[in-house]
Amino acid sequence: MSIELNASNLVKRFDQRELFNIDKLTLKEGESFHLSGDNGAGKTTLMKILAGLDKPCEGTVTVTPNKRSFLNTKLHPKVVYLHQTPYIFAGTVKDNIAYGLRLRGESRQKIKMLVDKGLAWSRLESLAEQQAHSLSGGEKQRLALARAWVLNPGLLFLDEPTANLDRKSVETVAELVKEMVDGGTAVMVSSHQSNCVTELCQRNLLLENGSIKETAQLNEANQYA
Ligand SMILES: Nc1ncnc2c1ncn2[C@@H]1O[C@H](COP(=O)(O)OP(=O)(O)OP(=O)(O)O)[C@@H](O)[C@H]1O
Ligand SMILES: [Mg+2]
Repeated sequence: MSIELNASNLVKRFDQRELFNIDKLTLKEGESFHLSGDNGAGKTTLMKILAGLDKPCEGTVTVTPNKRSFLNTKLHPKVVYLHQTPYIFAGTVKDNIAYGLRLRGESRQKIKMLVDKGLAWSRLESLAEQQAHSLSGGEKQRLALARAWVLNPGLLFLDEPTANLDRKSVETVAELVKEMVDGGTAVMVSSHQSNCVTELCQRNLLLENGSIKETAQLNEANQYA
């Protein structure tokens, strides 16, 4: 059964200030969205709420089918959120890729097989034994993607996945994200700028003045067409 996320009447406030009030948002397997909006518009807050990492003040987010999490939390096992600054665990690149698989209780044999696949997929094989904290920004971004990829997510939230990356690294991230979209993963990418990762998204959502509207593609000069 394919995965679907439905959000309705989402309101988020900090103290008295209302950040957003969103009627309805749906995300289904195979879909890809670019979530744009100025700095401070609420992109990170919204994606964390959709991914189950933060709570709205009002409204609901439901993911169907509603599987039990392997993490002993309320997080859905098929929903993955990648932080604006890639989160890196202590240990080697290999250890990082294995992290979620170990939590999931996979066998040693399966973990080894998937870690090797993840290293090849993200082109990090030559760095497998390196301490992950010593990786460059682009390598850390690829590692975070590989750690998500081995978990085979149904919904993937990528928060500014290309911030501080050079053109070549952005292109590599775009290739990896495209493979996941082509494989059926629903992806939402937040970025206040257009680039080759956001351009591969089929639909564009603009978060502005607390509400969401669907827009045409941003062109190269970051103007709405
Ligand atoms: N825990 C919090 N307490 C109070 N205000 C907060 C909190 N978290 C976020 N905010 C505020 O909410 C607003 C939206 O923040 P958010 O990080 O979601 O924006 P963003 O669109 O992701 O911005 P950027 O493009 O800079 O990443 C900001 O004004 C921020 O200061
Ligand atoms: Mg943000």
